[in-house]
Amino acid sequence: TAMLIRGTFVTLPSLAALHILTDYLLGVDETGHITHFSAANSPTSKALLTSTAVPPIQIPQGSFLLPPFCDLHLHAPQFLYQGTGLHLSLMQWLDEYAFKAEERLDADPALARRVYTRLAQRLIENGTGTVLLFGTIKEGTNLILADTMQRAGVRALVGKLSMDISSRPSYVEASAEAALSAARSFVSRCKETVAALPAHSRLVAPVLTPRFVPTCSNELLEGLGRLAAEQSLRVQSHMAEAHDQVEWVRSERGAEDIDVFDQRGLLTPDTIQAHCTFLDAAALARVADRGTAIAHCPLSNAYFSAAPFALREVLAAGVRVGLGTDVAGGYSLDMMSAMRHAVTVSRMREGKRRLEHAGENEAAESVAIDWKEALYLATQGGKEALGLGRGSGSFEVGAPFDAQQIQIFDAEKGAGIGALDFFDLELGESPDVSIEMVEKWWCIGDGRNRVGLWVQGNRLELSVLVGHE
Ligand code: GUN
Ligand code: FE
Repeated sequence: TAMLIRGTFVTLPSLAALHILTDYLLGVDETGHITHFSAANSPTSKALLTSTAVPPIQIPQGSFLLPPFCDLHLHAPQFLYQGTGLHLSLMQWLDEYAFKAEERLDADPALARRVYTRLAQRLIENGTGTVLLFGTIKEGTNLILADTMQRAGVRALVGKLSMDISSRPSYVEASAEAALSAARSFVSRCKETVAALPAHSRLVAPVLTPRFVPTCSNELLEGLGRLAAEQSLRVQSHMAEAHDQVEWVRSERGAEDIDVFDQRGLLTPDTIQAHCTFLDAAALARVADRGTAIAHCPLSNAYFSAAPFALREVLAAGVRVGLGTDVAGGYSLDMMSAMRHAVTVSRMREGKRRLEHAGENEAAESVAIDWKEALYLATQGGKEALGLGRGSGSFEVGAPFDAQQIQIFDAEKGAGIGALDFFDLELGESPDVSIEMVEKWWCIGDGRNRVGLWVQGNRLELSVLVGHE
């Protein structure tokens, strides 16, 4: 055992369960895997405490460990202009902002490194330990992205964009064939960047990334489907995202997104499709049947989609769902914000459903999701979607030790931290963290409450940018 941590843990074993485990002991080995997790006063914990020379790190009263966030959809190059230009529709915004920004990074490796380094720091600061990234077209820029995330200690799946048709002549691959060999090349070069490291230290991996149907020929999609199957690679894309996008595919391709993907082997259990706001019941049933996961990005949807995502129905269909920030279609890379937006949207949907069906459907299940469910989706849900679940939501033995440390009150001073006020905290009582306190943090907590982040057993530096103590 290389590290022992003792304190309160919040675990998220399933969508329906959140547990607060007070005074637990967790052991981590040299490879960053959990070797022990049980109540500190259990016989096994006592034996471990007496037999190990390492002193346990004591998580103070008023603080708890929680799985880090997993951002299931983020465009790394768009971080360049985060928070600008959201007055346009999706297809216009892509032309006016997204493609231009991505092209700039592909032309300027120094700028790319600057943007990606700052992005990694911001992710860490916001408690995001795992991220599924869209990059740019050019191989070298994506290798910079992979290298930056690996060095920063962030678990990242990096997607070199595949796009062989485009509205922007200077930002497109020459042909389906060229795009396919570029995708193949990136996959092997990205793997090479971590090949010399021991398996547990490899934090980055490639993911095939056909941008979306409008920028990918059927030939390209077919080739990527074959490549994914051949090399067991994950795939990510955007599906049925926005009204103007769906209409574009209908008029230009005479098809629905889901059919275009499904016919080319890009609707599999290794696929993560972003958005999916425009799926009817039959399409949803097909996504569930194929085992494809969905990255739900509520903030971006509010700007681009014109339709709210049917989160409850999608979950009820058994589809794996995680939350994404969709930077820069979404302006915030804070997963706390993504969680809150997910709940807000679901509650508006529920309100509308009740108004429309007043009196007739009293027994129908609510389509609202609550904060605990959102917290699951923002952490373990995303990891499950990536096939990286393995007990990490509940700190199971064998899982990598990934955690964020949240401080909500100072027991000695009897005072809340940051935006949090607890008027019933008894000075000197050393109260435990309660479910109401965690809920309050979920609602109004912020970066001031985050005091630690570990990925694969490594403690990352939170204070590079802001004045954490
Ligand atoms: N669809 C295709 N590309 C993009 C993108 O960059 N952002 C969003 N939100 N949707 C897309
Ligand atoms: Fe996106």
